[in-house]
Amino acid sequence: MTRRSKAPLIETRTAGTTSKHPQRRSAASSASEFEPGARSPRSDGQRHDRQFLRILSAHRDTTAVLGGAYPFLTGKPADGGMFIGHDTVTGQRFCFDPWQLYQQQTVSNTNIAIVGNIGWGKTNTALAIALRGIACGYRVFVPGDPKNDWTRLAEALGGQAIRIGPGMPERLNPLDLGTPPPGADGQAWRHQSEQRRAALMVAIVETLAPSLTPLHPEARETLTAATGFACNANTTATLHHVVTALAAEGGEHAAPIRAALGELCAGPLAGMLDQPATATPDPSSPIIAVGTAAVADYDLAHTLAVLTATSQLDGAPGSGRRFIIYDEAWRILAAPTHLARVNTELRLSRARGTSTVLITHALSDTDKAADAGSSAAATARGLVALCDTRIIFRQAPGETDRTATELALTNPERQALADLGKGEALWKTGNTTRRIHTDLGTTESMLFDTDQHRNA
Ligand SMILES: Nc1ncnc2c1ncn2[C@@H]1O[C@H](COP(=O)(O)OP(=O)(O)OP(=O)(O)O)[C@@H](O)[C@H]1O
Ligand SMILES: [Mg+2]
Repeated sequence: MTRRSKAPLIETRTAGTTSKHPQRRSAASSASEFEPGARSPRSDGQRHDRQFLRILSAHRDTTAVLGGAYPFLTGKPADGGMFIGHDTVTGQRFCFDPWQLYQQQTVSNTNIAIVGNIGWGKTNTALAIALRGIACGYRVFVPGDPKNDWTRLAEALGGQAIRIGPGMPERLNPLDLGTPPPGADGQAWRHQSEQRRAALMVAIVETLAPSLTPLHPEARETLTAATGFACNANTTATLHHVVTALAAEGGEHAAPIRAALGELCAGPLAGMLDQPATATPDPSSPIIAVGTAAVADYDLAHTLAVLTATSQLDGAPGSGRRFIIYDEAWRILAAPTHLARVNTELRLSRARGTSTVLITHALSDTDKAADAGSSAAATARGLVALCDTRIIFRQAPGETDRTATELALTNPERQALADLGKGEALWKTGNTTRRIHTDLGTTESMLFDTDQHRNA
């Protein structure tokens, strides 16, 4: 937009209203200054019948610059997709659908980053997106749910809720190939599933024994051979069978792998991944949530649980679009195996019809990957750049500067961060920013009750 005329940019007319401060603004006022409620100057001092909302002097600039100077001017309402809530600046209803925005070329990918301090409504907003997305025919995968916020939703919706951890009645088995999706080519599906299982076994060993990372090619071969042997020789193979096969295999690579996997078969981690599965992800379920609350305080166990769940959910893609949700994503950022996986997932989202949702407290959470080396830290920092929808809640003290810099917030956007209320966030979709409150229905508020774990 280019402004050429000297006429007021914005003018509202309200019959019979008056202003208390007719001379409040001087001619020297800033060119971009708004004067809501001010009257047009009159020499006769009589009652005015017009009220002006105007910019005092004409200003010429591009839409991009005006958008930066005052980002919350609204244009076309965002009314495509699922209802989210209302714009707290204009009152307009706000709808959202990452796939529609991608088709309209508003965003360059379908991924979503949700960032904000503890307790300002990140999970409730993500739950609203998921629930309303399911109503639109999308599916929802939650590979790790450390607070059981998502398993409750899955149970309420008749989806699949799998709560795992040592001693928990439900178990995933990393050797389980899962169920072929309806209509899948059996041979191709089996081949892919075996490759997925082999990759998972490598990731598990690397997580258990960082000193072996990256696993030597010969060690990978040994591990894959032992896994294949264990699975062919047993109807329901478990990690115990792989450990036995590695013992029989011998050789310099077998021993350290066997020692690493042995940790899952005995000791504090036993009973979580080394038993036959009681649950297999169901490709036809609208929502599958893997509850990891039982291991939430034990980083290694949590990482292994989420690794296994992610791999097994990958094996149950089904058809259609799906959200893959990483709540408390800062936990996965610290584990290099997860980081690499999520990075690939974000890059392939358009091709796979997925929208990965990363929910984290602060952008500085990506620094947690620094222990894993500078390339891991760079990958972690790059994750947010792969999310073209950013939903920014109130920031923790000391985080605002970094958030503003890394997300290229304008000054007014940065200032708005400081007074966002509960459930309210800046939604940046591509180049557009809106200030949105997520509106929850009564049933949703009861269903989403994320305070349960705090009160437990
Ligand atoms: N849109 C909303 N409208 C009304 N209340 C909300 C909204 N969003 C969140 N809340 C309330 O705010 C509280 C915190 O919400 P939520 O658990 O979603 O925050 P969070 O940012 O995910 O917190 P944490 O960082 O601890 O995971 C809850 O009591 C919830 O009911
Ligand atoms: Mg939360």
